[in-house]
Amino acid sequence: MSSDDLTELSLKLNMEEKNETELEQIEMELLLNGIHQYYGYDFRNYAVPSLRRRIWHHVYAEGLTTISALQNKVLHERDCFERLIFSLSIPVTEMFRDPQAFLTFRQKVIPLLRTYPYIRIWHAGCSTGEEVYSMAIMLHEEGLYDKARIYATDMNSRSLQQAKEGVFDIKKMKQYTKNYLEAGGTRSFSEYYTAKYNSVIFHPFLKKNMIFAEHNLATDRSFNEFNVIFCRNVMIYFNDELRDHVHGLFHESLSHFGILVLGAKESIHFTSFSEAYEALDRSEKIYRKIK
Ligand SMILES: C[S@@+](CC[C@H](N)C(=O)[O-])C[C@H]1O[C@@H](n2cnc3c(N)ncnc32)[C@H](O)[C@@H]1O
Repeated sequence: MSSDDLTELSLKLNMEEKNETELEQIEMELLLNGIHQYYGYDFRNYAVPSLRRRIWHHVYAEGLTTISALQNKVLHERDCFERLIFSLSIPVTEMFRDPQAFLTFRQKVIPLLRTYPYIRIWHAGCSTGEEVYSMAIMLHEEGLYDKARIYATDMNSRSLQQAKEGVFDIKKMKQYTKNYLEAGGTRSFSEYYTAKYNSVIFHPFLKKNMIFAEHNLATDRSFNEFNVIFCRNVMIYFNDELRDHVHGLFHESLSHFGILVLGAKESIHFTSFSEAYEALDRSEKIYRKIK
């Protein structure tokens, strides 16, 4: 092949690649617009790389070969839409995830909460509830649970159902016990659950002040005023615009001196609300609203 032929071939391949990328972008937009218009779920401002990966994964999982084919199936079959929501929602979680963050919360935030007559906590994007039961255990050990209400929300109804049941895989208890102790747990972790076959069920007293509800951070509004908001490992999947929108929602929903807890890879910096908070603990991403 002459060098002219090679150049022409390379140009052709580049053009094909460009066309495919353009087409993929159009198909993604059509899929996300369709879901938004038909089902009211808004994924249009999720970060593209992970969204794209998950959509393609789902295309193949449904036995399809194009995003357009997925759009057709999602719009015509509600079950397919439910499955897509589940795979887009990334429900990965743990009890006392990042134990150091829970330990710091216990050391720096619990003393502040002790001075309040009642405590309202919102776990936004609570997934299957591990974070919420961790909070209930910590408040119980600190003698604060009776005056607390924990609002646990997620857009994913399947995850929420599991959270309400409080049933978890027994295999995970070894890791969760380790996390609990590192997070400053003061008892034997097994006091909090009963094992049954391959699962454990957490004691119902932990659920008595929990309220579970579907809430979508992209489309739903503020619904109460809170002393603490936990939103960990949720906004990493959002683009800057949606992240800012959600920070607006949290700012509106936090009382003065309210506490915002973000995930290990998240930060209030580089958002429009960075000036509205001071860091109670910068490395554990625990902030206090000051404006
Ligand atoms: C990786 S999990 C984080 C769970 C827990 N906060 C933790 O850190 O272990 C992310 C959760 O965010 C939820 N989520 C994603 N987008 C959401 C949205 N727009 N509104 C509410 N929840 C959302 C997902 O359904 C998922 O359960």
